[in-house]
Amino acid sequence: MGRSVAVSTTSSPDTQDNESKGGSNAVIAVLAVIVALAVSALVVALLYYLYIRHKVKKKRQKNEKPFKQSVTRPQPQYTSFDTQGAQVFTYKQLQVATNNFDEANLIGHGGFGSVFRGELGDGRIAAIKQLDQSSKQGDFEFRVEVDMLSKLHSEYLVGLIGYCADQDHRLLVYDYMLNGSLQSHLYSTGTSGSPPLLDWETRLQVALDSARGLEYLHELVSPPIIHRDFKSSNILLDENFNAKVSDFGLAKLGSDKICGLVSTRVLGTHGYVAPEYAMTGHLTTKSDVYSYGVVLLELLTGRVPVDMKRPSGQGVLVSWALPRLTDRKKLAEMVDPVLEGQYAMKELIQVAAIAAMCVQPEADYRPLMTDVVQSLIPLVKHQRGGSKVMSTSDLQQEVISMKNSSSLDG
Ligand SMILES: Nc1ncnc2c1ncn2[C@@H]1O[C@H](COP(=O)(O)OP(=O)(O)OP(=O)(O)O)[C@@H](O)[C@H]1O
Ligand SMILES: [Mg+2]
Repeated sequence: MGRSVAVSTTSSPDTQDNESKGGSNAVIAVLAVIVALAVSALVVALLYYLYIRHKVKKKRQKNEKPFKQSVTRPQPQYTSFDTQGAQVFTYKQLQVATNNFDEANLIGHGGFGSVFRGELGDGRIAAIKQLDQSSKQGDFEFRVEVDMLSKLHSEYLVGLIGYCADQDHRLLVYDYMLNGSLQSHLYSTGTSGSPPLLDWETRLQVALDSARGLEYLHELVSPPIIHRDFKSSNILLDENFNAKVSDFGLAKLGSDKICGLVSTRVLGTHGYVAPEYAMTGHLTTKSDVYSYGVVLLELLTGRVPVDMKRPSGQGVLVSWALPRLTDRKKLAEMVDPVLEGQYAMKELIQVAAIAAMCVQPEADYRPLMTDVVQSLIPLVKHQRGGSKVMSTSDLQQEVISMKNSSSLDG
């Protein structure tokens, strides 16, 4: 028995070899299964990754589509009314309105092009400004900017009815202002057939209205709009001689460069430009305050901002006027002779003080337009009825929502 036990517990070398071979085969088989599982897991993961990537790509393309379309393919040319308020005109419609831009309807020329009187399809009379074709403004940018400007509503701004961006044509359609520009009245000969000269009271009224126009752009619009080209030819008078500011924000739309040089158009108009803006190009709302001061000097003196034909030392209105504004005796001498006997000395001194502050060479010393408005209010006897200016929150909401919908920052 002991032997048989001995036999059963021992094995020959052959048997040992067979057993170890069987063990390593099993290990190999297990390893093979693990590798196969790992590879198939990897393949499944890879396929899943490719599937997800494909899905994300598709979703992104779907989201990008409307934005790309709006940039490269603007609204159809023949929409007659934009839902946001700016009326979009075809070139044909404006040709009809102006009798094919007939010379007889030409009101005048400016730095951007010509202005025509026209009758729109609904019977409204409008001033149609045909911008020079040299403007390199892109179609989309032009539309966004003009659409923005047409959202500004104040009784102290000339209303922008709409625009035309039909092919290469760029036109702006404004409310028609029957009495034309302040400039045409200030430098009129006063003879019959020429624009009537303005009396003292009307000049104060114009000063207040136009200050309110700038105040609106600076304080009630977010972000503020700097006019950049505030001057007496951009203050227009309606049938009742109410003044409104025109061409606000327009300098931004002009061509920036002529033969690679920054054009003087963008820098505003000679005689009205604040010194720091002319020298450094640094533009703030205080640059408009300076230009406003120059207009106030024009109203007071009836002199143009720059006239080198005048005697030495009198060519530049600001340099000539500034030392006189605070000298009581010299002040009375510099007033436009046609105003003689119409003003109280106290009023004159107050207006002169406001003008002197506005044309300070140092921008920080100039007042805000709100301060100017508050200083002028007590001087104006017949003020316009209730303000129709939109509230800040209304306007901000409109401007912001418009920006969001256009995806541009203006
Ligand atoms: N809405 C309007 N209603 C009536 N007349 C207008 C209107 N807009 C402009 N005008 C007149 O058309 C003429 C040309 O205006 P325009 O704005 O093109 O030139 P500007 O004011 O002299 O210079 P800028 O191009 O710098 O504004 C001016 O005499 C102006 O009085
Ligand atoms: Mg103008």
